[in-house]
Amino acid sequence: MTTKTAQTAPALVPLHSDRDCRAYLLIDEASRQAALVDPRFDLTRDYEAILKQRGVALRFVIDTHTHADHLSGGDRFRNLCGAKVIMSAATKSRVPDLKVKDGETLQLGGSSLRFIHTPGHTPDSMTIFDGKRVLTGDTLFIGGAARTDFMGGSSEQLFDSFRKLEALGDNIEVWPGHDYNGKESSTIGRERKTNKAFMQPTKADLVAMLAMKGELPANMAEILSFNSERGLTEPEIIAPRDVAKLGRPGVDFTLLDSRYMDEWQAGRIAEAVHVPLPEVRDRWPEIARLKHPIVSVCRSGVRATYVMMTARHAGDKGWYLLEGGMQAWKKAGLPMVCDGGGEPAVITSRFATGGSCAAGGGGACAANG
Ligand SMILES: [Fe+2]
Repeated sequence: MTTKTAQTAPALVPLHSDRDCRAYLLIDEASRQAALVDPRFDLTRDYEAILKQRGVALRFVIDTHTHADHLSGGDRFRNLCGAKVIMSAATKSRVPDLKVKDGETLQLGGSSLRFIHTPGHTPDSMTIFDGKRVLTGDTLFIGGAARTDFMGGSSEQLFDSFRKLEALGDNIEVWPGHDYNGKESSTIGRERKTNKAFMQPTKADLVAMLAMKGELPANMAEILSFNSERGLTEPEIIAPRDVAKLGRPGVDFTLLDSRYMDEWQAGRIAEAVHVPLPEVRDRWPEIARLKHPIVSVCRSGVRATYVMMTARHAGDKGWYLLEGGMQAWKKAGLPMVCDGGGEPAVITSRFATGGSCAAGGGGACAANG
C-alpha cells in the first residue's frame, strides 16, 4: 500500500524554511496542477513567480487552520487566479470556498490529498496527508507541539490528534507549519521516539506538559479579522508606480507610514506622515482627520495591512495598501529621503517582535513586515 500511494504523491516544494511560518507547494507532476499550503499574504508575488517558473496552475490554497500569527494569502490568490480556498469544516472563517471534513479527499490532478481533522492547537486545525507525508500545520512540530492556550485550543484534543497521526505509520514524513530549530522534516517514527509531547502516555500528561500560557501573537485582532472575515480586494491594493495617479501627496491624498522610528529615519517617502503601528489605535482620531484616500505604507505590507484592518473596524473608508511596501518602492527606483544625509535604505527594525505558535515559547513567528 505504501508503495502504491507513494507513486501518486505530489511533489513537495518547501517555500520558506526559515524560522517564520512555513508554506509549501504541492505539485501533481502529470497534470501540472498545484496547491499552496499556508501561504503568506505578503509573499503573494514571490509565490506567483515560483508558480510561473515551475509552469504550474494553482488550483487550491489550503490553510491548515485559522492563523493568528500571519496574514493568509488564500483570499488574494482566489482574487488573482480563481484558486479555491480550502479549510476545515470546523472553521468559523468565512474565507474558504470549500470546508472539508475529517477523512475527506481532494483530487489534485492524479494526486489525492486526504484531510485529517487534528484539533488541539485550534478547533479547526487539520493535517494534509498525501500518502507519503503529512503537512501538520501547527499540530505537530519537529520535537515539539503546538501551543493550545488560545483560540479555543485543547491539549486533550491534541493528544487524540497525535494518535491519529501515529496511526499513519512510522515511515510517513512530517512537514510542519513552523520549525524553530532549523530542521526541515521528520518522520512519524522519529517523533514517536524523540518528541516529548508526542510521547506523553496520557492526556493528563500532555495537559500538564502544555499548561504554560504564552504571549498572544502580536496584532492578533487585525490578523484574525483578515483571515476570518475577508482580506483585501484588488482595488484596495496599489502598486508603487500607480501612487502618483492619486495626485499630490499631502494635498490630494495621504501616505501613512506605520514603521518603527529607526526604519523611518533610515529611508522614507518625503511627504509621508509617520504613525508607528503601536501608536495607531491611540492616535486614531488624528489619522481619521488626514486627507483621504490614505495609502498605508510599511516595509513589506504586513503592518500597513494591520492598519487597514483597524480602519475597517472603525468604518473608515478610502484606504489603499502600498503593495510590497517600501521594499517595492525602493526597488521601483522611486524617490526617498532619510535622516543623516546618507543613502536612504529600507531596514528591518531592531524593535520587530512577534508571537509564537509553539508551546513553551520556542520563538517568534509573526511577520512584522
Ligand atoms: Fe498557528
